Amino acid sequence: MGTLTASWRVTSVGVEGRQSKPHKGFRGAPPIPALVARLVYFMIRLENVSKMYGSELPAVRDASFDVPKGEFVFLVGPSGSGKSTLLRLMNRQERPERGNVWVAGRNINEMANSQIPHLRRTMGNVFQDYKLLPNKTVFENVAFALEVIGKPKHVIGQQVPQVLDLVGLSGKEDRFPHQLSGGEQQRVSIARAFVNRPLILLADEPTGNLDPATGEGIMGLLDAINRTGTTIVMATHDHRVVNAMRRRVIQLDRGVIVRDQERGVYE
Ligand SMILES: Nc1ncnc2c1ncn2[C@@H]1O[C@H](COP(=O)(O)OP(=O)(O)O)[C@@H](O)[C@H]1O
Ligand SMILES: [Mg+2]
Repeated sequence: MGTLTASWRVTSVGVEGRQSKPHKGFRGAPPIPALVARLVYFMIRLENVSKMYGSELPAVRDASFDVPKGEFVFLVGPSGSGKSTLLRLMNRQERPERGNVWVAGRNINEMANSQIPHLRRTMGNVFQDYKLLPNKTVFENVAFALEVIGKPKHVIGQQVPQVLDLVGLSGKEDRFPHQLSGGEQQRVSIARAFVNRPLILLADEPTGNLDPATGEGIMGLLDAINRTGTTIVMATHDHRVVNAMRRRVIQLDRGVIVRDQERGVYE
């Protein structure tokens, strides 16, 4: 896709409430600077990113890719190939030795620590092992995500039931995690990640602990969330899931991107 097309798409749909007037001249002429358009259009951009842990081989080596707003991307590759590291570079749990990571138009490596909580609010995280708080109910687990960012009680009382309905857990608000199946626990964790309507959802092997049918249900839910406009990056080595979804596939081998394919399968 050329820069002109990208710019046009940004200005015609508007991003984050910033509406620009449609340009009346030559089709595609960008009314906002091309660089700005490019950075806003790409929800995530990695530029020549390398990450080393100690003196070992790089966990990620010279990775570059763009993720447009609203895309669903699979990161695939065997265990140890760098999938989780890439996700952690996107929310600044890790910082690269080399290269730049842009999220929603901002270079997150240059962000002050004080801005990181704000960055994280734009991203929800889902994990293989759910990471629910065992002594809190379903409702409380999801509500907690809003409490820590200072949302008032009436907002919490409205948004938590809404999102629990969306993930199919209405009626199970008062259960504790140990009273739920694995699939239900993953639904709670997705509700928690999505309740604040983040721009981006990062999912690390979300179907890794689930049987195929349950995993399919979770993928249906992630697909529905993606269709609301949320950009999703999901690490997985589950061939079945990737082959069924037919979305973009970025494949890693020992930290190096060896394939980046639209509507790919897991080879
Ligand atoms: N915190 C860490 N400290 C040291 N090495 C790590 C750490 N996290 C990951 N690694 C190493 O980086 C490489 C990539 O790991 P990871 O990103 O977890 O891969 P994947 O998610 O694909 O299994 C592996 O060699 C792993 O051992
Ligand atoms: Mg991993």
